[in-house]
Formats: sequence, C-alpha cells, structure tokens
Amino acid sequence: MRHFLEVDDLSVDELRRVMELSVETNLPKALDGQGVALVFEKPSGRTRNSMEMATVQLGGHPMYIKPEELGIDTRETAEDVARTMAGYHSVLAARVFDHDRLERMAATNAMPIINLLSDVAHPMQALADLLTVEQEIGLEKVGKVAYVGDANNVWRSLAIGCSMLGIETSVASPAGHHPDPVDLDRIASCGGSVQVTDSPHEAVKEADVVYTDVWTSMGQESEKAQRLDAFNGFTVDSSLMAGAGANSIFMHCLPAHRGEEVTDDVIEGPQSRVFPQAHNRMHSARGLLSWITGEAEKHVQ
Ligand code: CP
Ligand code: NVA
Repeated sequence: MRHFLEVDDLSVDELRRVMELSVETNLPKALDGQGVALVFEKPSGRTRNSMEMATVQLGGHPMYIKPEELGIDTRETAEDVARTMAGYHSVLAARVFDHDRLERMAATNAMPIINLLSDVAHPMQALADLLTVEQEIGLEKVGKVAYVGDANNVWRSLAIGCSMLGIETSVASPAGHHPDPVDLDRIASCGGSVQVTDSPHEAVKEADVVYTDVWTSMGQESEKAQRLDAFNGFTVDSSLMAGAGANSIFMHCLPAHRGEEVTDDVIEGPQSRVFPQAHNRMHSARGLLSWITGEAEKHVQ
C-alpha cells in the first residue's frame, strides 16, 4: 500500500518511473471498473479536471465529493472516512486545509491516499512541473530552477522534486516569509543544493526556470493586505526575467494573480510555459494513478 502526500514519498527511481508513465501512450486500464474518490475542501480548476480525466483515461470512474458530504473530521473522523471509502473506491485523493488529515487517512492503510494540495504540499503539481521542465529544457540540461515569492506548498513540493533529481534550486522571499530551516534541510537531504536569498535578482541569476505562485494562498485571505505589502518588490516582471538565464522559461502553477506575483507581459510573453504546464497536470496524474495502483508495472516494461 503506497500513498502520495509529498514528492519524496517516492524514491528517485519511482519518481523517474512516474514521469515515464506520464508520457506512456499505451498504458493498461489500471482503474478498469474502479472508483477514484476526489474530495475538495477548497476550490480547484486544474486539479479536479486533470484527475477526473486521468481516471477516465485509465478506465475508472472519478467521483467528485463535496467537503460537507464526507465531512472529514466534522461528520466523522478522517480515519473512518478512509476505511469507509476503501469499500467503494481504489484511491482517495483529497485537497485539504490541514495536511494532518491526509497523514491520518494514510496511516489507516485502508486505501492509497493522494494529496491534491494541502497547507504543506502540492506534489501532484510538482509532478507536472518536473515533466514540463523535462519537455521544455531536459532534465540533463537544466541548471537552476529559481522560485520567487512565498515559500509555500507549491515551492516545497517543487524544491523537493528538483532536489531528488539533482536539480539546483534557489528561493527568494522577503523577511518574515523566509523558508523554514526544517524544509531547507529536507530539500537538501533529497540530494540537490538550495540557494536562499531575499533578493529576487540574486535568485534568478543564470536560472533556466523562473517560477512563482500567489502571495496569498487559499485559506490565507485574511492576511492579504499584509502579504501584498510584504511581497512588494517580489513581482516577476520583464526586468527580473531579463536577469535570468538567456533561454529561461517562466512557470506558474496557476491560478495567477496578475499584477501581484507576475506581470501580464511575462505570463503572456514568449518565455511563459504556464499552459503546457497546466495541461501536463492530466498526463502526470495518469502516470501517478498508474503507478499507485501497481497495475502499470504488471503490464508495461
Ligand atoms: N494549480 C492548481 O492546483 O490549480 P487548481 O487550484 O485550479 O486545481
Ligand atoms: N499556493 C496556492 C496554490 C494554488 C494551486 C494555494 O495553496 O492556494
């Protein structure tokens, strides 16, 4: 029984295998006649659609479940939810406010649990990000992935994934929003180096990828004014992109808050890869679902 709550729940070989499966055109119908429960405590465009369609492509039935219907830890405990859903579905994937809920569902080992974004991590996003870097630059060629802005769930999973593949990363964030040393240790322990700075220009120097995400994540809306102030100067604009590597690309998990973390001309410009990146969410979801069911390994290779 395997779970996917953060990228380093996979070994490096498994991560590479999931990436291979993501672009495999002839995958077995690993979910034939089976259900995938998709629970969202927060809104989603990309994650819901990509998971539903990946499930369909693998022969399964995706079931979107409103948070109030399952009521994880409100109607019944996270543990009871997992043990009940295991009777109907082969996988439970959830977007939650509190990462601990995922940990507790996974601890039952009733069924594979997938993190569709928590306060801590967004590993399904990182899979699509790594696939995009591979397709746009090549994993062997990419030198540095620079992240500018809030050292949040998206940053953490991206940095862990890059580090596992030996890709150097940098992160630039303002005082009061610096990365947690525990995260930096975890990232470094995965194998790659991480440069920490409070200067966006330093971070993007010689970078092949410039990545950013919103300054105010879902659930932090009450901090918006303070965050707009704190992250002032951390916008990815054309002058910042000009200081990155000559062939650098711009990435963003989306949704974007144009005029805050990124300017319109950058996200609409020739370096932007945000839509191929968004579309890769479905391909990498198919790869991960194939891997987590174990079915792909029985038929392919
Ligand atoms: N990037 C991402 O997870 O998008 P959604 O919130 O729309 O699913
Ligand atoms: N950091 C953002 C990512 C959205 C996909 C959030 O958690 O809201």
